[in-house]
Amino acid sequence: MGTSGGADTLASDVLTAAGQRRTFAVISHPDAGKSTLTEALALHAKVITEAGAVHGKAGRRGVVSDWMEMEKARGISITSAALQFAYRDRVINLVDTPGHADFSEDTYRVLTAVDSAVMLLDAAKGLEPQTLKLFEVCRHRDIPVITFINKWDRPGRDALSLCDELVERIGLQPMPLTWPVGEPGHFRGVVDLAEGGFVRYHRTAGGATAAPEERLSAEEAEAAEGAEWTRAVEEAHLLTESGGGFAASRYLAATATPVLFGAAVLNFGVRHLLDLLVSLAPGPGPRPDAHGAPRPVDAPFSGFVFKVQTGMDPAHRDQVAFARVCSGTFERGMVVTNATTGRPFATKYTQQMFGRERTTVDTAYPGDVIGLVNATSLRVGDTLYADKPPVRFPPLPTFAPAHFAVARPVDLGRAKQFRRGVEQLNAEGVIQVLVSDRRGDAAPVFAAVGPMQFEVAAHRMAAEFKAAIRLDPLPYSTVRRLSDPAQRVLVDSGSRGEALLRSDGVYLAVFNDDIALGMARRQHPELKLESALHDA
Ligand code: G4P
Repeated sequence: MGTSGGADTLASDVLTAAGQRRTFAVISHPDAGKSTLTEALALHAKVITEAGAVHGKAGRRGVVSDWMEMEKARGISITSAALQFAYRDRVINLVDTPGHADFSEDTYRVLTAVDSAVMLLDAAKGLEPQTLKLFEVCRHRDIPVITFINKWDRPGRDALSLCDELVERIGLQPMPLTWPVGEPGHFRGVVDLAEGGFVRYHRTAGGATAAPEERLSAEEAEAAEGAEWTRAVEEAHLLTESGGGFAASRYLAATATPVLFGAAVLNFGVRHLLDLLVSLAPGPGPRPDAHGAPRPVDAPFSGFVFKVQTGMDPAHRDQVAFARVCSGTFERGMVVTNATTGRPFATKYTQQMFGRERTTVDTAYPGDVIGLVNATSLRVGDTLYADKPPVRFPPLPTFAPAHFAVARPVDLGRAKQFRRGVEQLNAEGVIQVLVSDRRGDAAPVFAAVGPMQFEVAAHRMAAEFKAAIRLDPLPYSTVRRLSDPAQRVLVDSGSRGEALLRSDGVYLAVFNDDIALGMARRQHPELKLESALHDA
């Protein structure tokens, strides 16, 4: 990057590479089949040859990262990063969304680093709480969503009722692109609504290889499947004729969702999903900077840190910062500027990681995720850039916490270390630190999206800052944003609520439950409370 002739060539390379990228995340509730789908996608794309290699659960062969003893003890994976694979002429980046017990603010933040999402539903369960929370973030950010209804090989709900649920509960219009033939549990294949005809699936032993598909014409399908086929075609038409006709523009505008049916464990429907991702999902586009001016993808390198992970390698206390590339070409060894501090950062060690696998990255393009090792100076939300013009992306949004606890040093003599640690964890976005008029600075309130964040915070306070802490849980579960700070006395006047100040200057009004919130509203009708889901 430098002289104009070279820069021209590079710019067109970047545009080509960016145009090939598809960067997405899977949003789902635990057990819907995210790990299974990840394997199935990778299997189709021939990254791995055998299912099982990227599984992240205890007792299974494969990726259970071991960066913390606590993680080992519980057998869950806190590591999240991106899996990159090639499919057709595209490069797919699947950015992992930590779920299960490790659901945390990071899970939401991942959605700032993707261009689209796949909403994975269990056919027997439909929309579940964690999916709903993640979907709300997608909606707020206008992230286009493809819906994949999984586990069709098992008894479940009927296809029309699952589609109705999307409209009724989240106001998202389903646009089916396939429709299942055969009741849930007797899955034969799908009506291909885009290309016509019947795609019949054949089982392979344990779903360990890409499932063979057979394409039949409508006439052949009717002859082979009889009433099952006719019923599937009629049901699909019912939906496509009542507003569910496919339009790419509605998907891109995030007002409607293409729907596919499948069974990840058998690899049924997975090829369709990949084809849809490469043909329909948006690639990286210009990212608005803090002033709203879009940074073109072929501008010099820029990216932002969306996740920082400490202590992944027990041998050295290393810290990996995961950054999404927004513009330009990233080359290992590059010295970039951290826009927050104005300081240079040398990218000598760069990795792409997924679970335990680490491979060194030499070059990365817009849409790619890079892991910067030894990144002790980097924080969540930092912008990195090379060359001119400088750029700074907006700070990452903060999400409404759902768990609260008062933090105190176990050893009162270590108040200084305690304060330093609390400041650091707050700055890194490990937990949100809140203060209240009631408790004062000495007893800050830790707030988190998921309880795992408390454990990470407590572990780091003790191990890194030598200030072991005690966390006393607070009973709050209903959170609002208080628009007028002067009204905090009104919130504090009740016994089942409290006003808390976050370090970004936002006042949160927290209540034991919705009943306590309702009471506060009745007692003080002038209270101005807003949704606190995300403070962009
Ligand atoms: P998660 O990452 O979303 O939590 O889900 P995961 O992939 O671990 O899947 C949860 C369970 O659902 C697993 O069963 C998995 O095999 C099963 N599953 C995933 N996709 C399908 C599907 O298409 N059809 C059926 N019938 N099952 C599916 P498990 O019993 O928890 O584990 P395992 O011992 O089977 O691996």
